[in-house]
Amino acid sequence: MQHPEFPDPLPEHVAIIMDGNGRWATERGMPRVRGHVAGVQSVREVTTECARLGIGSLTLYAFSVENWKRPSTEVRYLMRLLRVFLRRELATLMENGVRLRCIGRLQDLPAVVQSELQRTEERTRSNTGMVLRLALSYGGRSEIADALKAFGADVQAGRIDPSRVDEETLRAYLYDPETPDPDLIIRTAGEMRLSNFLLWQLSYAELFVSSIGWPEFKRAALHEAFRSFGSRHRKFGMVPEKASGPKERA
Ligand code: FPP
Repeated sequence: MQHPEFPDPLPEHVAIIMDGNGRWATERGMPRVRGHVAGVQSVREVTTECARLGIGSLTLYAFSVENWKRPSTEVRYLMRLLRVFLRRELATLMENGVRLRCIGRLQDLPAVVQSELQRTEERTRSNTGMVLRLALSYGGRSEIADALKAFGADVQAGRIDPSRVDEETLRAYLYDPETPDPDLIIRTAGEMRLSNFLLWQLSYAELFVSSIGWPEFKRAALHEAFRSFGSRHRKFGMVPEKASGPKERA
C-alpha cells in the first residue's frame, strides 16, 4: 500500500504490543494506572494516523489473558478506561471511518464492557475505512486452544474430515480469519518478545522494537516504524532473488 508521504509501501496490517505504561508512570513518581491513562492518548493518535494513511487494519494488544493476574485494582481500572475510551472515542472512530472489532476471550470481560464493545462494533459496522481490532483477554495459545476445541466439535459432528486439514483449515477457526496476517509488529518500551500475541498470524511479520514507552509513542515514532518496514526485504522463506520486498508485495 502506497502513500505519497512515504517513498516505500506501507504495511496493510499493523499489530502493536503497547508496552511500558507502568514504567512510564513509575519513572514520573505516579501510580501505574496513570501510565494507562496516558497510553489512551497514544491509542487515539496512532489509530487516527493509521486511518489517515490508509492502513487496512490495526490490531492493538490491549489486555492479555495473563493480565487478569495483575492486582484487581489495576484490572478494574483498565476495564473502566476501556469503557470510557469506547464512549469518548466513538465520534473520532466515526469521523475517521474506522470499524471496531474485538478478538479474545471476550466472554471473560465484565458484562458492561462486553455490551459497550458490542454497541461500538454495531455503530461502526458500516464504516468503510480501517479496521481497529482490540485484542482483549487475548492470548495466542488460548486462541489456538479455542480453535482446536471448535475444530474437535466439527469433527465429532461429522462436519469436517480431519484427514483433509491444512493451514487454511486451522486459520478458519481463529478469532478473525478474514483479516490478513500482520505485515508489521511493533513493540514499544524495548522488550524483545512476543508475549503470547498473535502466535499463528505473526509468522512472517516484520518486527520493529521501539525503545519509547507506549505513552510517548506518537505519530513521529509510528512513521519511523513505517520507514523501517519500507526498507525491509521480505523473503517469506524464499531465496533473495525470488523474494518480494514490501514494494513488490504491496
Ligand atoms: C502494558 O504496559 C499495557 C497494558 C497491559 C495495557 C494497555 C492499555 C492501554 C494502552 C490503555 C487502554 C487501552 C485502550 C484500547 C483504551 P505495562 O503496564 O505492562 O507497562 P510496564 O511493562 O512498564 O509495567
